Amino acid sequence: MGFYDDRVLPHLIELTCGATMLTASRRRACAPLTGDVVEIGFGSGLNVALYPDAVTRVAAVEPSDVGWSMSEKRRAAATVPIDRAGLDGEHLPFDDHSFDGALSTFTMCTIPNLPAALAELRRVVKPGGVVGFLEHGAAPDESVARWQHRLEPIQRRVAGGCHLTRDTRAALTDAGFEVDEIDRFYQRGVPRPFGYLSVGVARSL
Ligand SMILES: C[S@@+](CC[C@H](N)C(=O)[O-])C[C@H]1O[C@@H](n2cnc3c(N)ncnc32)[C@H](O)[C@@H]1O
Repeated sequence: MGFYDDRVLPHLIELTCGATMLTASRRRACAPLTGDVVEIGFGSGLNVALYPDAVTRVAAVEPSDVGWSMSEKRRAAATVPIDRAGLDGEHLPFDDHSFDGALSTFTMCTIPNLPAALAELRRVVKPGGVVGFLEHGAAPDESVARWQHRLEPIQRRVAGGCHLTRDTRAALTDAGFEVDEIDRFYQRGVPRPFGYLSVGVARSL
């Protein structure tokens, strides 16, 4: 990891992903969670204050040491135990069916091999368990989609491998999840190529 990805990017992510206009959607993604939860791409812990009371433990999966350090205060204020239990969503060091649910916010865009990571979530989440998600991705409007394809190579370089053209719903259903609930919209205040959001709940069958 270079200086930019290691030292600068986690702070940029904190600034952009930490915008208060996203809090309501983050809360929606967290709302269905209960019991033991695995959160992939934990980052600086922007969801910690939003975990519902029904959550009993969180296994954080996060490759960035800087992101993890930045989450320290939020973890200290948490009402549930949070361990950094893994470093890579594509290879989860957990037994099959060991979690009641999972959480991913603005992470499915970044994980290099998303199908591998979703297959891992299916393996470790109990049948019937939920995945709360809030992601940005492929827009339905042709002109926006064209810009997403144009901008994606730059975005991947400056934003830690972040893709603009991934289809969250399709990725989840291709991985064998059932999408119980999804709301898709352009986030106000965010340029459209970066701001087509999907928030909802998927279920492991
Ligand atoms: C855009 S940030 C989002 C962080 C956080 N989820 C949030 O909502 O603010 C993407 C996160 O995915 C993490 N990430 C990148 N590759 C990953 C991988 N293979 N497995 C798990 N997390 C990964 C990054 O380190 C970063 O923390």
